[in-house]
Amino acid sequence: MKYGHFDDSNKEYVISHPMTPTPWINYLGNHGFYGLISQIGGGYTFYEDAKLRRITRYRYNQIPTDYSGRFYYLRDEQDIWNPGFLPMKTKLDDYKCRHGMGYSIIESKKNDVSTSLKFFIPLDEYLEIHQMVIKNESDVDKKIDLYSYTEWNLWNAVDDQTNFQRNLNIGEVEIDSQTIYHKTEYRERRNHYAFYHVNQDICGYDTDRATFLGLYRGLHEPEVVLNNKSKQSVASGGSPIASHHLQINLKPNEEKTIVFLLGYVENDDVDKFDELNQINKIHAKKLISKYSDLTKIEQAFRDLKEYWEKTLNKYQVDSNDDKLNRMVNIWHQYQLMATFNLSRSASYYESGTGRGIGFRDSCQDILGFVHMVPEKTKERLIDLASIQFKDGSTYHQYQPLTKMGNADIGTGFNDDPLWLVAATSAYIKETGDYDILNIKVPFNNEKGTEEPLFNHLKASIRFTLSHLGPHGLPLIGRADWNDCLNLNCFSEEPGESFQTSENKSFGRAESVFIAGMFVKYGLEYVDICKRYQKEDEAAYVNAEIEKMKTHTKTFGWDDKWFLRAYDAFGHKVGSNENQEGKIYVEPQGFCVMADIGSKSQQEQALASVDQYLKNDYGVELLYPPYTKYHIELGEISSYPPGYKENGSVFNHNNPWIVIAYTMLDKANEAFDIYKRNAPAYIEDISDIHKTEPYVYSQTIAGRSAKNYGEAKNSWLTGTAAWTYIAMSQHILGIRPHFDGLEIDPVIPSHLDHIVIKRQFRNCNFEIKIIRDETKKGSMTVNGKTYDRKLIVIDKSIKRYDVIAYV
Ligand code: BGC
Ligand code: NOJ
Repeated sequence: MKYGHFDDSNKEYVISHPMTPTPWINYLGNHGFYGLISQIGGGYTFYEDAKLRRITRYRYNQIPTDYSGRFYYLRDEQDIWNPGFLPMKTKLDDYKCRHGMGYSIIESKKNDVSTSLKFFIPLDEYLEIHQMVIKNESDVDKKIDLYSYTEWNLWNAVDDQTNFQRNLNIGEVEIDSQTIYHKTEYRERRNHYAFYHVNQDICGYDTDRATFLGLYRGLHEPEVVLNNKSKQSVASGGSPIASHHLQINLKPNEEKTIVFLLGYVENDDVDKFDELNQINKIHAKKLISKYSDLTKIEQAFRDLKEYWEKTLNKYQVDSNDDKLNRMVNIWHQYQLMATFNLSRSASYYESGTGRGIGFRDSCQDILGFVHMVPEKTKERLIDLASIQFKDGSTYHQYQPLTKMGNADIGTGFNDDPLWLVAATSAYIKETGDYDILNIKVPFNNEKGTEEPLFNHLKASIRFTLSHLGPHGLPLIGRADWNDCLNLNCFSEEPGESFQTSENKSFGRAESVFIAGMFVKYGLEYVDICKRYQKEDEAAYVNAEIEKMKTHTKTFGWDDKWFLRAYDAFGHKVGSNENQEGKIYVEPQGFCVMADIGSKSQQEQALASVDQYLKNDYGVELLYPPYTKYHIELGEISSYPPGYKENGSVFNHNNPWIVIAYTMLDKANEAFDIYKRNAPAYIEDISDIHKTEPYVYSQTIAGRSAKNYGEAKNSWLTGTAAWTYIAMSQHILGIRPHFDGLEIDPVIPSHLDHIVIKRQFRNCNFEIKIIRDETKKGSMTVNGKTYDRKLIVIDKSIKRYDVIAYV
């Protein structure tokens, strides 16, 4: 069943039932100020860091679900409703929510009063705009009461939900005609405040939640709205909120535009206060006055649209498969922006209170994102390299506001260092900017330790080489890509973190996955060295790669597939010898991508994936799932069979299999895996899948799970990057290379018309892929026959017309 439809011409998903199986959200904002917004207006807003600068409150896992957000109540005589349906759940005559690129619009109608409520954050502004156009579609005069509602968070989202003995005493607000200011802790250690403003006269307000709701009441029955009378409450401690009360008179067919502004301001220490010892509101007032002009709002919205147009236009495909176009041109890239901006910090499932910017996560996001905004990528690369230690190991995460490595989770994930090589290599391939390698970057953010970025990459490579186990394969440390394969931890205590509890000292567990990574990204490092006048280093690492290949072939192959690992005692993991967890997907993908083993071994590995791991929604992470807890394996065996790392379709690694298939020239097999979980292709099963049909989720429950096919943890997943890479660079085959653009399509049989427009290093490419048996494998570039896949960029040529025959 579907709950809406794609509107490709507007780049929107249009939800037509407010009661979607889970909240279906969108992200507002791109540059340090963000809002999460669901189809009913739920969600929250924050500045930079969802933990340290949470502006509005969200209660995760609350019942009923999603009752935190920006809510508007409309009242026409005795009828009260919310344009987004919740919290009142009054039946609406019409409802639609359009989630677009950086904006959401909720359009609804009740009692012949229609509203269109547009939410967006202008580029480069710390301000969420809620613009409501309200129209009287009846033939009688209407007098509508409108109440706004938003709930302030006391800034630190963790304290906010834990430290009530303090929290209930600190809430402070100021009210200045139509603007309600939130200033908790402003008197002492904070220089920031937030405000919520409306551009019309108000007839009342409330800022104290208990007063607004009334005793033991929920947001579906706020006393103030039910009695149609604001109480002018001034929060003092308790839970501060912001609610305006407006009266709107509308003649038949008359419409009015009402603008609410939710903003964030930082003041300098010296001018925090005005002469009355109140907040110095100059900056807020400037923002308010700027956006009191409706044409400015329109302009800001147009700018946002243009920004997206420009960003998405770097790669556009026109093919005979609409769903494919929709994914590549819109939703893959859109999801990539969210993952790039927020890593795995703030979604409806990542609470924004724990994980900041993940090291491996962000490095992988970059692989897919880099063409969209290379400048931002560069900055991110430097921030990431700054949490690396001199020995090459890295913090696993950093806090976005401080950019300091997160000591709680620490280090010890032995795949992390190599992802920096992968991400830097992707950046250079996209931009040709080798200068980045000269930028001086500190280790562990310590002043005085700065060395060229190149040395950081070298440290990454050295880290792997200095952490090899008994079979010459990389030691796994706490875990590799698979966070839950904790082979050295032997956790016995419930509640203990599998990732941070101390590893046993005898642990010498090894990872075949990291071996694959070392070969794949080591080769890219060698390529970089060669172009960076480091011939000796290139030769040395090349030789080490050869050794790693040999070790992987010798000790990392299990007869019909690649082995996953050796545990702390040197026993095989992911082997036919095991009773459970015989085969894992990761090494099949990565070792084939790294071109390890013979062609027939690679084919065999993928045939095994097909035989044991494939289900209706992609390939499962392992088979058979663990039914009991294996202390020597860790968290992976703690999940019930079919969930998360224990045998769900963990979408992130599916594209590795897709890419592996393309490397063996198996186009239909590659596409078949791609389409099993690509959102646009499974829109029809939203009732089973449950999460948003326009973005990927992290997992889809596997065959052994009770809720087979149910997805969880939407939005912030490395799936966004890898599925996009698999499709854009390997199936469609337009692949950045150190020296230019490679054209190497591996096209499934149902596609017979493909034109790709790609902007690459200041050149415009138009690539037509044409099916023609007689010319298969050949190519013309600007009308001339061309016998390589790689188009080396000639700076004097600005436009390349390419025809590639398949
Ligand atoms: C989850 C992983 C996640 C990790 C992050 C684990 O409990 O299963 O998917 O990456 O925590 O800390
Ligand atoms: C989610 C994490 O964000 C990612 O880093 C990890 O690779 C996967 N889980 C697999 O465990």
